[in-house]
Amino acid sequence: MATILITGGTGYIGSHAAIQLFEQGRFNVVSIDNQLRSSIKALDRIEAISGRRMTNYSIDACDLHAVEEVFEAHPDIVGVIHFAALKAVGESVEHPLFYYRNNLESLVNMLACCEKYHVANFIFSSSCTVYGDIAVEELPVTEKTITTEAASPYGATKLMGERIIQDFIVSTDKVKAIALRYFNPVGAHESGLNGEEPIGRPNNLVPYITMTASGLLEQLTVFGGDYNTRDGSALRDYIHVTDIADAHLLALDYLMEGRNTAPYERFNLGSGNGVTVLEAIAAFEKASGVKLNYRVGDRRPGDVEQIYSDSSLAKEKLGWETKYDINDMMASAWKWQLELNKTKEKQQS
Ligand code: UFG
Repeated sequence: MATILITGGTGYIGSHAAIQLFEQGRFNVVSIDNQLRSSIKALDRIEAISGRRMTNYSIDACDLHAVEEVFEAHPDIVGVIHFAALKAVGESVEHPLFYYRNNLESLVNMLACCEKYHVANFIFSSSCTVYGDIAVEELPVTEKTITTEAASPYGATKLMGERIIQDFIVSTDKVKAIALRYFNPVGAHESGLNGEEPIGRPNNLVPYITMTASGLLEQLTVFGGDYNTRDGSALRDYIHVTDIADAHLLALDYLMEGRNTAPYERFNLGSGNGVTVLEAIAAFEKASGVKLNYRVGDRRPGDVEQIYSDSSLAKEKLGWETKYDINDMMASAWKWQLELNKTKEKQQS
């Protein structure tokens, strides 16, 4: 059976993609993940849902020699999905070199190995952050929207990552690539058995909501109530992690079946619906039946006012369609939080 190598396989999106790849039954899945920001327990969760145990190499994707050994151990690798990256915007401002080294060196290593070991299909986790702070008249953003200078070192690693792939693809005829620009991935597996497990205090909205609702955090601050949106809070395009994972399987098939129209293409992955922070909170309260303790505070530096996607290119070319809406995202995120709380209680007793 052919193998797909994923980096970041024990991470939030990587673990969901692994489940879907196993469930599809066409590939073996091998992962590289050193658990810098994830838990090895993800292997148990993947197995509990898919019935398959993923082989994970706990090595740093920045260690070229170690990565080469993985490729050598698996001569049947036919595709690479490179999820592994650091992704906290604030942390990237404090530790830019850590972000540049980690996110860029790992990418360069994976590309170099694809060329060296004749792996023709490469998928990269990019982000809507490449569009920067976009004017309202330009919404929704399409892949033709001009990318702007990144607002953070994290964002710069995604923009540079896309550029590195572009230059690499021009230089070789051995590898084809796709960059998937995620909007705001949220939610959890519908079983409630796999989801995001932030280490420490989360930065992102949905884990912050579910942890506050569980009493693990005291209060959620809505960052900004004076934006020029329908209710004054910032607007984003939230997208279910399972829908995001789906797109990777479709992108792999698209490349492997030679349906690609260029050796390197980029696709937006968003729902196309803008949801404000206050609307997200209302959806959570409805899905969970829990009243959330929140207050409206100051804007968070570096936040854009609003962004949402036109994802018709992914629909047209990859055949990708979203299956879940904001209510499903919140319901599954809550189910997962309750599961995490149960596990913690068991550990404490
Ligand atoms: N928010 C709050 N309170 C919180 C946390 C978030 O009000 O405690 C708001 C933010 O201000 C924002 C929205 O919820 O309006 C979503 O915030 P997230 O932190 O969940 O996500 P971002 O939109 O800031 O981040 C996403 C991706 C990043 C990417 C960034 C680019 O997660 O990878 O978009 O804008 F870099």
